[in-house]
Amino acid sequence: MSAGWVNQVFCEDALAGMARIPDASIDLILTDPPYNLGKDYGNASDQQSVEDYLAWTEQWIDTALPKLKPNGSLYIFLTWRFAPEIFVMLKKRMTMMNEIIWDRRVPSMGGSTRSFSSVHDTIGFFVKRRDYYFDLDAVRIPYDPETKKARSRSIFVGAKWLEVGYNPKDVWSVSRLHREHPERADHPTQKPLEIIERMVKASCPQGGVVLDPFMGSGTTALAAKRTGRNFTGFELNPAYCEIIEARLAAPDMAPAVARKRKAAAKAAPLQKEGTA
Ligand SMILES: C[S@@+](CC[C@H](N)C(=O)[O-])C[C@H]1O[C@@H](n2cnc3c(N)ncnc32)[C@H](O)[C@@H]1O
Repeated sequence: MSAGWVNQVFCEDALAGMARIPDASIDLILTDPPYNLGKDYGNASDQQSVEDYLAWTEQWIDTALPKLKPNGSLYIFLTWRFAPEIFVMLKKRMTMMNEIIWDRRVPSMGGSTRSFSSVHDTIGFFVKRRDYYFDLDAVRIPYDPETKKARSRSIFVGAKWLEVGYNPKDVWSVSRLHREHPERADHPTQKPLEIIERMVKASCPQGGVVLDPFMGSGTTALAAKRTGRNFTGFELNPAYCEIIEARLAAPDMAPAVARKRKAAAKAAPLQKEGTA
């Protein structure tokens, strides 16, 4: 693909930047916007009043949706705190296919004594039309050898489902990326590649384009690159843009490179002081 906006992550505000992207050119919008839980991303995007946050969310949704092809899909990561309001917004514009629960497998370590500990993110899967692209075979989970053996009776022999594996359910139990995780880059809410790659493989054809307006450490771009898809997107924070660049430059060993870069950036001012 040769268009200037393809396979680029622009270090700019997504709301203005999305004007670069032609309408009906995107196969999949896969995004993890600020949850408005007060995180510091080096900007105020996660620290808005509830009213402002919901108005801003509606604004970016209305900017992004025209970019989708008619058979395109959207996945959106949310917190249970705002998923109800945002799902209603999206259901007015699209058809909701799934609510996926990401169980972050957070170990039990105290937490609130006045409510239950929250260990999941809420993901909405939406489509524009009933003939949306969806490749279930690309994301089936292989049966283990014992199960296959147990199903070796003649009635099961040659059964396609036994060979290709089973359909992932709507609860995805994948560990969050703790500090020491080999995939981890220096971003506070980085998502696991395993989850993002599953969405990309299921909902974007080979050679298609995935849009993520809120790239963070660039997991969506990396997943697209690693699976033979194209990407485009935005990130406001220049330090995260550097991490994205480093991860994309070494898609198989990106985290180590990203960490090294960040460490070098932190060390730089001290060296300058010492040598001035
Ligand atoms: C939840 S994080 C995304 C994390 C990402 N999924 C990953 O795996 O690293 C949201 C990101 O959106 C960025 N952001 C917030 N407002 C933005 C805007 N208007 N345009 C572009 N990026 C924005 C933040 O700086 C933050 O890095």
